[in-house]
Amino acid sequence: MKKILIVGGAGYIGSHNVRLFLDRGYDVVVIDNLNTGHLDALDSRAKFYKCDIRNKEELKKIFLDEKPDGVVHFAALSLVGVSMKQPLEYFSNNVYGMQILLEVMHETGVNKIVFSSSAATYGDVKEMPITEDTPTNPINPYGETKLMMEKMMKWCDIAYGIKYVSLRYFNAAGAYDDGSIGEDHNPETHLIPLILQVPLAKRDHISVFGDDYDTRDGTCIRDYIHVMDLADAHVKAIEYLFKGNDSQIFNLGTGDGQSVKEMIIEAEKVVGKEIKKEFAPRRAGDPAKLIASNKKAKEILGWTPKYTLHMIMESAWKFHSTHKDGYKK
Ligand code: UFG
Repeated sequence: MKKILIVGGAGYIGSHNVRLFLDRGYDVVVIDNLNTGHLDALDSRAKFYKCDIRNKEELKKIFLDEKPDGVVHFAALSLVGVSMKQPLEYFSNNVYGMQILLEVMHETGVNKIVFSSSAATYGDVKEMPITEDTPTNPINPYGETKLMMEKMMKWCDIAYGIKYVSLRYFNAAGAYDDGSIGEDHNPETHLIPLILQVPLAKRDHISVFGDDYDTRDGTCIRDYIHVMDLADAHVKAIEYLFKGNDSQIFNLGTGDGQSVKEMIIEAEKVVGKEIKKEFAPRRAGDPAKLIASNKKAKEILGWTPKYTLHMIMESAWKFHSTHKDGYKK
């Protein structure tokens, strides 16, 4: 049985991956500093270490004790708006964290890593869909750190033979089918959780940031991809590396986009009542439209997203309606 070390396994996307890796028969060890992750999101079948990856001594000891076959890395700060105000925290957590992780992998002979990257590496792109060859030009510190982390892996591959797959997610969304784990950020800035706070009476209305974009209904279009489809891609990516393949970068999205207004309509269908919305000014830094080309992941990883928009909204509602104030801890 292969052992996977999931770094940041108590966070939103990490915790869904932990479940899927366990269900697919992997031995899973989780490391998380619990700064933004949640103990309640952790699967009890996984072995857990509370550790910050910048603590090299502790991290190295875990690697030496556990001897993982591969690493899946989610341990990064991920809020675009916060990154604009606190860039140095993002460089420390994300870039310096990656530096220590790669040092420890190199020193302990672990040479396979799947990395949680982002569409934010591309920046404000005009031509859709975005392919892996679209030039990268991040417009915020968060996206910049993700791109830097990719470059660090690239040079460590050349120098030390550490093979990586970098997965650039578009808009991660939804929750585990039964609603037992899901999305809980503080502060919450993502569209779906905020829309669902209205029927939960946690906010009066959802603000639609801009209705004068050059899109079919004037609101921004995004490519929402279910978190379990993302997890499936991670399993496929590590298996691709275990087969001895070369490092790669893949976009992960459905290849289709929904507008903010369409997301609100979908939420109304799932919740069964009207959701009050108010139009607000554009949010700084929001591109009008972001849609992935997922051709490369389909061809090379054999990955196809299976969750529909309805399933995304339904699973998110299951989580939020049963965790009104998020996780307890
Ligand atoms: N939006 C609203 N009202 C809200 C919140 C969001 O209208 O209250 C809109 C945004 O303007 C945007 C869309 O809903 O058009 C989606 O916004 P999110 O904040 O949910 O997601 P983003 O597209 O801004 O961000 C996502 C990921 C980031 C990643 C980025 C890449 O969450 O991690 O894509 O561009 F960096």
